[in-house]
Amino acid sequence: MPGRIDTFRIPTRIQFGRGVALTLADPLRQVGAKKVLVVTDPGVVKAGLVGPLTEKLREAGIAYEIYDEVVPDPGVAEVQRAYERAKAVGADAFVAVGGGSSIDTAKMAAVLLSNGGTVLDYIGIDKVPKMAAPVIAIPTTAGTGAELTINSVIADPGQHKKLVIISPNATALFALEDPELTVGLPPFLTAITGMDTLVHAIESFTSKNSYRMTELLALEAIRDAAWALPRAVKDGKDIDAREAMMRAVVTASLAFSNTRLGNVHAMALPLGGWCHVAHGTAVAVLLPHVMDFNRSAAPDRYAAVAEALGATKDAKAAVEHVFRLNETIGIPMHLGPLGVDEGAIPNMAKDAMLSGNILVNPRTTTQPDIEALYKAAI
Ligand SMILES: [Fe+2]
Repeated sequence: MPGRIDTFRIPTRIQFGRGVALTLADPLRQVGAKKVLVVTDPGVVKAGLVGPLTEKLREAGIAYEIYDEVVPDPGVAEVQRAYERAKAVGADAFVAVGGGSSIDTAKMAAVLLSNGGTVLDYIGIDKVPKMAAPVIAIPTTAGTGAELTINSVIADPGQHKKLVIISPNATALFALEDPELTVGLPPFLTAITGMDTLVHAIESFTSKNSYRMTELLALEAIRDAAWALPRAVKDGKDIDAREAMMRAVVTASLAFSNTRLGNVHAMALPLGGWCHVAHGTAVAVLLPHVMDFNRSAAPDRYAAVAEALGATKDAKAAVEHVFRLNETIGIPMHLGPLGVDEGAIPNMAKDAMLSGNILVNPRTTTQPDIEALYKAAI
């Protein structure tokens, strides 16, 4: 009988470095793209991030159209619209420029282009039969890691649900990780997207599924984010901090793609579905509460997290450090002022318990535990 077997997979080709976004024509040539749909949102266009990229496409003689109608928390209908546009213009590849919303929209539109149907046909694990059309993902935040992960999150507003699609066929083919594209990101967005990365690293490291290879990556992400996030929030032009945050996205994403996450993410999706709290804000506020709940089940793990954060090597110190970090970078202390009220707890707790992330959380968790954690965070 074989013992435990750990599988490490990362279908996306990663290119990392200052200015790498400007090489986007190379991967498009490699896949033989004839017509490209650039998927982005109006804010990213206004910030001047799309112009230099489309100029490179023109220089390379690659035909393109711009689709700049991505909305935050895209739903099934929005993905359908992006897909229809791709079909209408005859696109055979996508360039996604933006945060997790643009990248997930492009990933799922690319799934529809090669598989047909609607997003609802592919919910769950390994339900996408054919590889998505090529997506070159260029993140402008650091970040959700959407450019690297096999997960996409699409809203189903009718059911107050966030739908999760997990498939190696629903990924970006290339991720161009360019820290220079993040220097203009405002402080609060820097803070919440950066905290998402830190949560990915901490939840992966403490997950029941973690193993040596994912642990090394997660710890390195925690170390990078611990020093770089406050600096990137304080001074967006601090390119060394921006680069370290982008590196943290890569290492954290490689880790959590292979372990899954924990209670923070199980609880964050229903907060988005029922109360429209932005993902980064939700995970940042929840993190220290969940760590405090978990630390008795894995004190050595959380002591290692504390050390990587730069605190005393002690599980409680890790929790205190994260509370202070949130305060330093301007994350709200509680969810109540963001419009979350306790009446939503029963529905949210029920949905959270359905998440596979609950099963790999280091401490066994019941629905009353989740309810108490929501209450503490509100
Ligand atoms: Fe996340």
